Amino acid sequence: MNALGIDFGTSNSAAGVLVNDKPFLIEVEAGEKTLPTAVFFPQNSAEMRIGSAANRALIQGEEGRYMRALKSVLGTSLMHEKRRIMGAEMTISDIIARFLEVLKTRAEAQCYTTFERALSGRPVRFHSKDEGRNTQALADLTECYLKAGFKEVSFMPEPEAAALASHARQDGSLGLVVDIGGGTSDFTVFRKQAGTQEILASHGVRLGGTHFDKRLSVRHVMPLLGKDSLIGKEFGEGALAAPSAIFQDLATWEKIPFLYTQQTRLAMAKLGKLALEPVLFSRLLTVLTEELGHEVAFAVERAKILVNQEDRSDARIDMKMIEAGLFAVMSDQSMADSLAEYGADIRDAVKETLVLAGVSEAQIEQVVFVGGSSLMSIVDDGMRAVFPAAEFLYSEAFTGVVDGLAIAASRQS
Ligand SMILES: Nc1ncnc2c1ncn2[C@@H]1O[C@H](COP(=O)(O)OP(=O)(O)OP(=O)(O)O)[C@@H](O)[C@H]1O
Ligand SMILES: [Mg+2]
Repeated sequence: MNALGIDFGTSNSAAGVLVNDKPFLIEVEAGEKTLPTAVFFPQNSAEMRIGSAANRALIQGEEGRYMRALKSVLGTSLMHEKRRIMGAEMTISDIIARFLEVLKTRAEAQCYTTFERALSGRPVRFHSKDEGRNTQALADLTECYLKAGFKEVSFMPEPEAAALASHARQDGSLGLVVDIGGGTSDFTVFRKQAGTQEILASHGVRLGGTHFDKRLSVRHVMPLLGKDSLIGKEFGEGALAAPSAIFQDLATWEKIPFLYTQQTRLAMAKLGKLALEPVLFSRLLTVLTEELGHEVAFAVERAKILVNQEDRSDARIDMKMIEAGLFAVMSDQSMADSLAEYGADIRDAVKETLVLAGVSEAQIEQVVFVGGSSLMSIVDDGMRAVFPAAEFLYSEAFTGVVDGLAIAASRQS
């Protein structure tokens, strides 16, 4: 019985099997081989929509609860907290399981078979430093697959899957996969020869496009909603900076839905009354009351992708959904300044991968890029500096990992 290869990504997911020695990717939604890892629960309904249908519901302003980037919750305490979502009690673990179950059902309908086993990708590290959380995250994801109806699940590091699918040379030279996704950056040093693949080392850090979005939002958008503004003291003279946690959470994809509580709205309304610039807090309250956090995050993500294009020097982050005419401007320079530290972190992680593999920069002859955020120029520029002489290969950014999982899954059968 075949195993189904599944790339459950922070931002996008895909599934595939091997057919005639080639990866066959499931049409996970109409006409598409990947779908956004997003869910939407419409109000007064037991239905759950996933992927682009969930995104559409959000964009069209349908009443309900939207969630994205749930992979980032694996290994955290939010995972197993019961929440009331549109009248039903559920945990994030239940929601991820239901998402995976839909992928399983769609794959089975297209392959005319039942998949009892899954080969899932996993980031090398879900959490950069905390070993306990890392182990917990894998246990959490395993539980989700079992709840989704798979009898068995095994895992393969995502960059190792991408290495397998890559068209790197088969001559024994060394290659490096650089997979910068939505939630993590993952690296593998490998060598291909005569149809076999040797893995010298894999390494990863919890850093990806969603962290870029967060930093860009905190720097460009959150100040317009009250971040860093002054709050008068309730008793006595003077003022203090507004507490920053709410702005950090509002800029964090997976945390946005947890802010839509009466308690948070009341706390922010109270701050607004004491604020020296109440207009900023009235915008924040609009975001919390009208549940506009994801729309703001999408506006930031869109601007990031626009500014990253070579011929663009800036972009507007449109916030007219909060207030007519409201926008922030993100320039090449302000984006580069905001993300410089992350570029350095990625370079450091690559160097650490080489240390783990016991090889030098000069020995890497090919660098294979995977993941949507590998399209960011800070990644490209950083890698050019580390590997000036290497050949750069651009595999399919969004399907390199699932292709490899489909290949590896067939070898398990
Ligand atoms: N053209 C682009 N330029 C820059 N970034 C992009 C571009 N297209 C997509 N991204 C970013 O890539 C990320 C998604 O990439 P991808 O689908 O590879 O992640 P993922 O596999 O879901 O995440 P992970 O592997 O970390 O769990 C998002 O953060 C998105 O904003
Ligand atoms: Mg990925």
